[in-house]
Amino acid sequence: MAEAKSYRNFIDGEWVESAGREAFEDRNPADRGEVIGTFQSSAPADVDSAVESARRAIRRWRQVPAPKRAEYLFRMGEILLKRKEEYAREMTREMGKPLREARGDVQEAIDVCYHVAGEGRRLFGYTTPSELPNKSCYSLRMPIGACGLITPWNFPIAIPSWKLIPALVCGNTVVIKPASESPLSCYHLVKVCQEVGIPRGVVNYVTGGGESAGTPLTRHPGVSLISFTGSSETGRQVSLACAETFKRVSLEMGGKNAMIVMDDARLDLAVEGALWGAFATTGQRCTATSRIVVHKKVHKEFVDRLVERASALKVGDGLDESVDVGPVISEAQLKKVMDYVQIGRDEGADPVMGGVRLTKNEYGRGFFFPPTIFTGVTRGMRIAKEEIFGPVVCVLAADGLDDALEIANDSLYGLSSSIYTQDVNRAFVAVRELETGITYVNSSTIGAETHLPFGGMRRSGNGHREGAAHTAIDIFSEWKTVYVDYSGKLQKAQIDNN
Ligand code: UN1
Repeated sequence: MAEAKSYRNFIDGEWVESAGREAFEDRNPADRGEVIGTFQSSAPADVDSAVESARRAIRRWRQVPAPKRAEYLFRMGEILLKRKEEYAREMTREMGKPLREARGDVQEAIDVCYHVAGEGRRLFGYTTPSELPNKSCYSLRMPIGACGLITPWNFPIAIPSWKLIPALVCGNTVVIKPASESPLSCYHLVKVCQEVGIPRGVVNYVTGGGESAGTPLTRHPGVSLISFTGSSETGRQVSLACAETFKRVSLEMGGKNAMIVMDDARLDLAVEGALWGAFATTGQRCTATSRIVVHKKVHKEFVDRLVERASALKVGDGLDESVDVGPVISEAQLKKVMDYVQIGRDEGADPVMGGVRLTKNEYGRGFFFPPTIFTGVTRGMRIAKEEIFGPVVCVLAADGLDDALEIANDSLYGLSSSIYTQDVNRAFVAVRELETGITYVNSSTIGAETHLPFGGMRRSGNGHREGAAHTAIDIFSEWKTVYVDYSGKLQKAQIDNN
């Protein structure tokens, strides 16, 4: 096998080694023998250089007219479109999701580029009359500064693009630190930034572990904002670190997303939605369907059909087009999934399918775990409450809509939810009552489109909504309110008119 390529950090427009010249390996989770590449193990000194570079670059970048900044982003979309297949394949090798999902991941970034490029000619502020004569008032969106972007491995091009692209259109500069399980996909995105000619220092890329590279970024006094996607536990640490220097912080974290299946639902649709929601990306999405709350009248039929269909899913290397479920990302994640399966058994839930690691033949080369369904799950069980982030779904029975809503809302998380029903009244009640940032009707808990706000409440997020929507622009811009008095005299608000 050819020697694995070695990748560098990107700082101030140069591809550079880390100060300590140490590297780590990125391996294929479907075949641990395959090294995808080696990447820099960065230390605080590398983060310092990257932040300095971003801070220097912002002086010019913020002066580039926003429609011009947007042109770079549009061209990024065009290059990504051309390379979609290549980057999707590399993504599957790097983090395991089936090829068609990897193509969707790259497509999300393309959608973000095109949508946000249009934002360069909007970036709307407000104008409003003054209470005083001969005076104008308006507000402008301003860049925030050097932004630290910390991104996960499960959407390794899409999620970096949700952060990077809106940050750039607003006139910020960035230091991006991707998850160590997927640095190559993020490298591709950064390479495209370089190719379209985004000026040096505007985009900096630093790889390495959370402690050695992520934490210094969150603590750095020169960073004005941190945008983080990852677990709620790490999100808490990020938030605490940001508090020290009063950084703006946007957190996109876990989920324990419920799908409600009512007795009037089209069960064929609900079963397909459940399979897609629970097992796509091997359940490793923050929006994954991890609880299915089923009306007791259709519980048996739904579970029978779900098990039948789930048993037909093919688990394997995502590069094989016929595969539905790829590997779990890592040994540690696999252990976590197995631990939760044991917890479920100990709690008395019924594992009606799956539950045992796959190790035979080629499965032995990677981290494969089959679609796993627990029935007889009740609200108090840990498997019903804690995020597992793997191909494990819990089925809970409900007496009716009120009961189903109560079960669905009994969660520390609040990212996504869904209801399957043919009754419009029930659907609208659910939309109103489900305490999540995103709700789907007659569709799974996954599948957000990038031009709509994405995010959740409680442990799922801290009030921001990202993606390519206007709400992402809210994260990456600061308001400046401007008053222009052209009366030629001193006018006093609140006083002169009263
Ligand atoms: C995530 O769940 O981690 O809505 C991101 C979706 C994708 C993005 C998911 N577009 O499922």
